[in-house]
Amino acid sequence: MNIKKQIIGALITSSLLVGCGSKYTNAKLDKDFDVDAQLNYCVNQTTEALKQIPEEGSIPRNIAPDSKQWRYVDYTDWTSGFWSGELWYLYEATGNQNWATAADKFTNYLAPLSVSPALDHDLGFQVFNSYGNGYRITKNPEYKSVLLKTADTLATLYNPKVGTILSWPREVPNMEWPQHNTIMDNMINLELLFWASKNGGSKKLYDMAVSHATVTMNNHFRPDYTSYHVVIYDKETGKKIKAVTHQGYSDSSMWARGQSWAIYGYTMVYRETKDPKFLDFAHKVTRVYLDRLPKDLIPYWDFDDPMIPKAPRDASAAVVVASALLELSTYTQDAVLAKEYFDKAEAMLKELSEHYQSRDKNTALLLHSTGHKPAGSEIDYSIIYADYYYVEALLRYKKMKEGEQPLLTYKFN
Ligand code: GLY
Repeated sequence: MNIKKQIIGALITSSLLVGCGSKYTNAKLDKDFDVDAQLNYCVNQTTEALKQIPEEGSIPRNIAPDSKQWRYVDYTDWTSGFWSGELWYLYEATGNQNWATAADKFTNYLAPLSVSPALDHDLGFQVFNSYGNGYRITKNPEYKSVLLKTADTLATLYNPKVGTILSWPREVPNMEWPQHNTIMDNMINLELLFWASKNGGSKKLYDMAVSHATVTMNNHFRPDYTSYHVVIYDKETGKKIKAVTHQGYSDSSMWARGQSWAIYGYTMVYRETKDPKFLDFAHKVTRVYLDRLPKDLIPYWDFDDPMIPKAPRDASAAVVVASALLELSTYTQDAVLAKEYFDKAEAMLKELSEHYQSRDKNTALLLHSTGHKPAGSEIDYSIIYADYYYVEALLRYKKMKEGEQPLLTYKFN
């Protein structure tokens, strides 16, 4: 960490860790939204969650609405990298070595992923959030080696005839296996390929990521820029067979988290390529999402669920978008648009902090996320990826309020 970061870290540590529950205030920050108080909350909750983890290899995934108890998974689960990623962010926020020690321990649980065959596209979520954040902060060469190996593993799922990564290399209902499926969520995994191509890996990884983003842009969206969750392609000819949902309300609906992956994904692809067509596209997929949000800016799990306003919310989509909006606000010359993005991200974080925090209900950070409603799974839960992006968004917000650009060396330049 550079000197400035160390000073900021030391300041926050004194309040966030050495005395749990004590408030850290900074006169430079917006009086309306005390981001340090929210980070302080995240530190306290996560300290408690850490104490409860029962055994080696267990990684927190979710808490049911009527429970205080985390359900744990092992490193093979698609969500396995969010917990250690959250711990790395708390190290970044506090500079307290205890967080780095914990983050390192949970990061290393995922090591086998780099030397196993690719079971699906989620390798990017798993390894980039854990090892990627760890390497960004510590420059540990062992982390770099895992990242490079995993990028090559992820690349084995790339089909050059289609031009995208195969998301689920297995039979999934309605996905026409053994044809080629690609899901919107897969956009986030491109970040690992971009990083590897610029840090000692093959340049082909960059080309694969650009092709995936381009083919997805051309096939995965309706004329109004809302996204399909899944597109099936003929694996030999690359021709689009059909576009359907898996986790959304219907094939023609806007599944909230799917759209949030598109917003975050195209913002990241623009950062990595500087190609204006991806920036233009990021603005378009963002516009339709923002224009259709409810007043409080937290989406229902699917924008087209006829049960709205009685449908469950998805706080996870809200934090993914809040984090992406902060970044996207820095890429536009249009001051009015930049302000709209920043103000909406701030309003989302305020709303989540005031009305969605878990507090005395459980040791997660946020309530009210929805994982897979059609499967009846994780409806109105606390889910680890919501917590991860919440801390990420709070950190981005804090750095921007302090006038510090970039927040994250390769994740937010
Ligand atoms: N990537 C799976 C999900 O967003 O639920």
